[in-house]
Amino acid sequence: MKKLLVVSILLCHLLHSNPPQNSMTGRSTSYREICKEAALDDCTFQKFRSIKPYFDALECGQGGEFAQYLMENATDQTLSQIGSLRKLDLYGDPVRNEIPNFGLFSGTTLRYIVFADSMKRLFDLPDHCTIVEIGAGFGGQAYVLSHLVPFSRYYVYDLPEAEMLIERMVATLGVPNVRCLDVYAELPLEEVDLFISNYALSECDKETQLDYFKRVAVKAKRGYMLFNDTNVFDHLSLSEWIELFQENGIHPKIHPEPVFTYSGNHLITWDRTKS
Ligand SMILES: C[S@@+](CC[C@H](N)C(=O)[O-])C[C@H]1O[C@@H](n2cnc3c(N)ncnc32)[C@H](O)[C@@H]1O
Repeated sequence: MKKLLVVSILLCHLLHSNPPQNSMTGRSTSYREICKEAALDDCTFQKFRSIKPYFDALECGQGGEFAQYLMENATDQTLSQIGSLRKLDLYGDPVRNEIPNFGLFSGTTLRYIVFADSMKRLFDLPDHCTIVEIGAGFGGQAYVLSHLVPFSRYYVYDLPEAEMLIERMVATLGVPNVRCLDVYAELPLEEVDLFISNYALSECDKETQLDYFKRVAVKAKRGYMLFNDTNVFDHLSLSEWIELFQENGIHPKIHPEPVFTYSGNHLITWDRTKS
């Protein structure tokens, strides 16, 4: 009888255990170590964006193509704020280039500006909206959005080491209303205005993807998700993502990446306020 009870408790635990949270960046011990060190050590904080494993995980090309996109597509409001958004590059010593019309910028910061501007143009977001981001890097997207799309709450799900760094970065930059949550925590709101996950949820294993989808994404009225297909774990393909959305009453739109960076990458968006 006692044996049966132990077996059933174990079975119950197995059936309800948390997903493993495997992901491409998560399996890189050096990436996680740099995040933690940058959060705790001033010297690493001053240079983390140029340390190779971190650079390889997060930073992108030279930036000219993002600047070109902004010149051709961005709203006047975005263009007028570009100079002040350069502040993001003051920390972590990112690789910066002199970009015509824009000055000295990292490609990654320009990429965050492209995405924020594209969200602004795609969605009719309320003033002081609520946002949740899965896989927020060092908090750069939150910083840029705080200038272009002011929010009242910005929840972040990321690995513990990355969240330590995000907390340091948002405190240093004075980004208000950002709160990092434990990867297994419930979203504190019943619904949010905008869900974001760029090159992050698509890099997790399938079990983690399904868990975040059910626990977080379905609570969002709108979504902006950059999908990339460089994932060694069993994961959802683009067509499986579309099926999953549709099964849950969400009608996603599939767009090319705003600026092409890699073949197979796509932008997935949804807006339930319009359907
Ligand atoms: C390729 S980076 C993209 C970062 C950022 N979205 C950007 O566009 O620069 C992947 C992000 O996903 C995060 N990540 C990895 N595993 C995760 C998990 N299980 N849950 C939440 N975030 C995770 C990483 O720490 C990192 O912030």
